[in-house]
Amino acid sequence: MAFSALLRFLSLVAAVSARDLVLHERRSMPPAGFLSQGFAPASEMLTLRVALAPNNVAGLQDKLMSVSSPGSSDFRQWLSIEEVKSYVQPSSETVGAFNSFASANGLKPTIISPNGDWVSITLPVSQANDIFAANFEKFTHKSLTQPITRTLSVSLPSELVGHVEVIHPTTAFTWPTPRRAASIASVPLPRAVNVGINDVRITPSCLQDLYNIPATPATSPNNSILVTGYIGFSAQLDQLGQFLQLTRPDMPANTSFSLVSINGGVIDQGPDVLQTEANLDVQYTVGVATGVPVTFLSVGGLDADFASDLLDTTNYLDGLEILPTVMTTSYDDDESAFGESMAKKICNGYMALGARGMSVIFSSGDGGARGQHDDISECTNNTFTPTFPSTCPYLTAIGGTEGFGPEVGVDFSSGGFSNYFPAPAYQSSAISSFFATLPTNFNGTFNRTGRGFPDLAAQALLFTIISSGNKTEADSGTSASAPTVASIIALINDKLLSVGKPVLGFLNPWLYASATKEGFTDITEGSNPGLVCFAPSAAFDAVDGWDPVTGLGTPLFDKLLAAAMA
Ligand SMILES: *[C@@H]1O[C@H](CO)[C@@H](O)[C@H](O)[C@H]1NC(C)=O
Ligand SMILES: *[C@@H]1O[C@H](CO)[C@@H](O)[C@H](O)[C@H]1NC(C)=O
Ligand SMILES: *[C@@H]1O[C@H](CO)[C@@H](O)[C@H](O)[C@H]1NC(C)=O
Ligand SMILES: *[C@@H]1O[C@H](CO)[C@@H](O)[C@H](O)[C@H]1NC(C)=O
Ligand SMILES: *[C@@H]1O[C@H](CO)[C@@H](O)[C@H](O)[C@H]1NC(C)=O
Ligand SMILES: *[C@@H]1O[C@H](CO)[C@@H](O)[C@H](O)[C@H]1NC(C)=O
Repeated sequence: MAFSALLRFLSLVAAVSARDLVLHERRSMPPAGFLSQGFAPASEMLTLRVALAPNNVAGLQDKLMSVSSPGSSDFRQWLSIEEVKSYVQPSSETVGAFNSFASANGLKPTIISPNGDWVSITLPVSQANDIFAANFEKFTHKSLTQPITRTLSVSLPSELVGHVEVIHPTTAFTWPTPRRAASIASVPLPRAVNVGINDVRITPSCLQDLYNIPATPATSPNNSILVTGYIGFSAQLDQLGQFLQLTRPDMPANTSFSLVSINGGVIDQGPDVLQTEANLDVQYTVGVATGVPVTFLSVGGLDADFASDLLDTTNYLDGLEILPTVMTTSYDDDESAFGESMAKKICNGYMALGARGMSVIFSSGDGGARGQHDDISECTNNTFTPTFPSTCPYLTAIGGTEGFGPEVGVDFSSGGFSNYFPAPAYQSSAISSFFATLPTNFNGTFNRTGRGFPDLAAQALLFTIISSGNKTEADSGTSASAPTVASIIALINDKLLSVGKPVLGFLNPWLYASATKEGFTDITEGSNPGLVCFAPSAAFDAVDGWDPVTGLGTPLFDKLLAAAMA
């Protein structure tokens, strides 16, 4: 260790005692994989983004629960962009408190979000260390080309307590992992889809059969799927064309998608561009949600800061007058990498999007009950690690299954319980039924009060895709499950819109309601020790009813549609 914990502690004590500061967030060490290279130079300029407290986040939460819960008088009366802003924008008192603080310290805040809840300030490391009782250091990570600047502890001047929710970058160390468990085979075209017994490969038509998904094109104009992309993955137009020719010859060969880039997001085309994850996500939305417009949104460059990229995504969407009706994301990190204040702020962004009628869908992760720690040395560690954003209660997290007779939970399907978010009311009875099935000698350690995830599951093994120069590959991961579920939701939205009904929006209270039960195949076999761990490594089991491997089960389009129309 290049840098001593004692030194950190001593300088922290000195800084905090010098003035009226309140500890805001601290971690004892950086997450695994990040190595300190020592103090950041005092003169290095930092641009910090600061989250100002919304004026009424509790009101927005109540409103979201009401509009998304079957039986409410305002069920599915989604909010307008202005209504959401009226809850999220900071109060004048909060803005005033921050502005006085800024001017007293010679800082010039710039508003950087449509709802006014984020501002940025630029200042030297020495000043940031001083006013926030921080110790900014440089950290390296094998996936990053440049060291990053972070601190293990950040405090707030007492006059900002209650007015500032997050300062970033400070204690959040996040690097998104695309959720592909393995890339099995890569062979050049032409090649028939191989459905040999040991080489079952999923195609859109196979998912249509399994989940009763129609192949007839959607027609509603105001319905679309947003596929997000991070860390430089760019969805390829020509690879989609090849994919549709191979797997959906019934669809128009020129069916395409839109490309949008924010903050340096890569949307380059060509065989040498990083693309597998993005191709998977786009091919299984365009190819399954027949006729639904798809946009690929690429956010941030190769040297990703996942927390910033997720915030940039929600800030971008907060400014759109018309939202896509479904967003699907196949990247995650451990919940602990974000830290509590950052995870909560990002999660509240999904609350706001859900309230406007967007279904926010994330893959649950591919490390089973152990989060990112899918390493053989972790198999005897029975302290489970939840993933984020999956643990956010305002989105729908998707785990993975395999096989057909019956479908079973796949070993890498991430699931468990949050350490930051308590179990929401819509889920409490599902969770207590699950706890009743746990053996008394169950030796996994997890947080029994936390939000349980995933909510649903779908096939996750050996999806046929076309990538990197017209080659067929078979890709696996909950990365494949999320676009599959997103497509089903978008096709239900199409039917709802075509009869003048509102879209599904935030899904969970409706999904967990007893009237929706017929909409899923309950998955009752399989467990999630991770890809490299085997029984008796502690893990959760799929059981009757909800479980933290496959959630409520896998979706059946026709039954869910019937429930949605009721
Ligand atoms: C689509 O949305 C626009 C803008 O909100 C609206 O004017 C239009 O009537 C909608 N079209 C349909 C078919 O619902
Ligand atoms: C696809 O081709 C059809 C028929 O050739 C044409 O009418 C349609 O405009 C094309 N669509 C796109 C998106 O290019
Ligand atoms: C077990 O995993 C937890 C969560 O990732 C971690 O905090 C802990 O240090 C690990 N324990 C050992 C002995 O590796
Ligand atoms: C368990 O989760 C709750 C939220 O449900 C949280 O308040 C608590 O701190 C967590 N406990 C631990 C040990 O992380
Ligand atoms: C893939 O095939 C299409 C048409 O068959 C061709 O236009 C394109 O250049 C090929 N792409 C790559 C990366 O080889
Ligand atoms: C508890 O965990 C250990 C290590 O993962 C495993 O070997 C053991 O069999 C487990 N015991 C039970 C009762 O599940």
